[in-house]
Amino acid sequence: MKKSFITIIMISAFSFASSGQPSNEIIHHKKQEKMETNKNTNKINFEFKALPYAYDALEPYIDKMTMEIHYSRHHKAYFDNFIKAISGTPIENLTLNEIFAGISNYPAAVRNNGGGYYNHELFWDNMAPNGVKMSENFEKKLVAQFGSLEKLKEEFANAGMTRFGSGWAWLNVDGKGNLFISSTPNQDNPLMDIAEKKGTPLLAMDVWEHAYYLKYQNKRADYINAFWNVINWKVVEERYEKSINNK
Ligand SMILES: [Fe+2]
Repeated sequence: MKKSFITIIMISAFSFASSGQPSNEIIHHKKQEKMETNKNTNKINFEFKALPYAYDALEPYIDKMTMEIHYSRHHKAYFDNFIKAISGTPIENLTLNEIFAGISNYPAAVRNNGGGYYNHELFWDNMAPNGVKMSENFEKKLVAQFGSLEKLKEEFANAGMTRFGSGWAWLNVDGKGNLFISSTPNQDNPLMDIAEKKGTPLLAMDVWEHAYYLKYQNKRADYINAFWNVINWKVVEERYEKSINNK
């Protein structure tokens, strides 16, 4: 045991000495180790939910490999690191809504990983193979707010296109029941107290390169256009109704 510990120290020291920083292999190993040893022990029991469909279910709009890497690596890492960041702190007793409402008071690891966890959960849920159509009633609401579905699509796509670097585009509802579109950087979301436009997210679109680069490379516009085909409007509408009824 002691011998193997010394060996690890020696390998690490060699790696630092030869490159000035830890090798990718060691960083990767540490990440793996972190993912495997993180246990969700917090009281409110945040869940790492199963993807609601197969990795290839959103083809041809979103490819299998992108979905597999996105869900099993990126999303899993956000979840594990979120649990790690809140475990043993008073934050673990709060709901996600409560955490986001006071996010400016918490460490960056909570903001980035809590946001990453929540945002991706929404993203998976608001997609379905070939999409699910919206009800006539909800369509009327959207048209009344945005003028037409085309205008909504245009504004939503624009929010995704103009987000510089990594981030998200959102369709939200505010406290008065008004629908609006916004965009946030990194893993921020409209529930956070630091958000420029605050509201309850109904529809989330991930515009990080990891969401589309394998299939679309730098063509974010093509990915955004394709995303429109896999939106589960039933789920979006259910979120809207829930939010309105909770007021
Ligand atoms: Fe993502």
